[in-house]
Amino acid sequence: MNIKETKNFVDNVDGWLTDGEGEALYYLAKNCKGNGVIVEIGSYKGKSTIWIGNGSKSGNKVKIYAIDPHTGSSEDQKENEKVCTFEEFKTNIQNAKVDDIIVPLVKTSEEAAKDFNKPIEFIFIDGAHKYEFVKLDFDLWFPKVLNGGIMAFHDTLGLEGPKKVVADHIYKSKQFKNIKLINSTTFAQKVEQNSLKDRFRNRYIFLLKSIYKFAAKLHLPKPIIVLGKKIVKELQ
Ligand SMILES: C[S@@+](CC[C@H](N)C(=O)[O-])C[C@H]1O[C@@H](n2cnc3c(N)ncnc32)[C@H](O)[C@@H]1O
Repeated sequence: MNIKETKNFVDNVDGWLTDGEGEALYYLAKNCKGNGVIVEIGSYKGKSTIWIGNGSKSGNKVKIYAIDPHTGSSEDQKENEKVCTFEEFKTNIQNAKVDDIIVPLVKTSEEAAKDFNKPIEFIFIDGAHKYEFVKLDFDLWFPKVLNGGIMAFHDTLGLEGPKKVVADHIYKSKQFKNIKLINSTTFAQKVEQNSLKDRFRNRYIFLLKSIYKFAAKLHLPKPIIVLGKKIVKELQ
């Protein structure tokens, strides 16, 4: 499926990912060379997995390890309310015809990381969103990402957990460059050591992100928000 077909397909899959974020995942997966694999933490019903799967299929068909216990977020567990999203996930990826390159790992990120020893070219983190879990995801998976590979975190604008992890460990790090913010997702390229210019640019993107976040709180009219998103995209 191309971008348009993927968009039409995922419109009918539950989830929180925006089309802009989905397109970015599609292109990043398409650009993977096959030096490592693709990993997704938090698949839910497969919306992001399908974007990544179609991107990968239109590129080098790099395998995607889709990690999710499919029992809901530990932070959202309610007594007497069982969550199971695995059947719906499987049906959605089968209907999207991406199941042949997706390896579902029905485990938590922590369980999966224990014996996962493949190098990673691209990882999308959208699992449990409390700070301690996002930080654990970062600590567990960062060492497995190749230099030149991409780490992406969802919900880095509104939710405190992902927001603080990227602020402390991506934007201020000496091991990331080419940071981009698309809607609420922060994307960054891991490097051995970034340059002074990279660090200035990372701080500049952080400033843009803070202004964007502040403006979002003002409840501005929709056309202004759309214009703001375009400006932020152009300025990166
Ligand atoms: C926000 S949803 C993911 C949405 C998905 N990326 C999409 O585009 O629709 C979060 C998912 O993370 C999963 N999850 C919760 N804790 C997790 C953990 N420790 N490891 C991996 N996945 C986890 C939940 O089961 C849930 O399906």
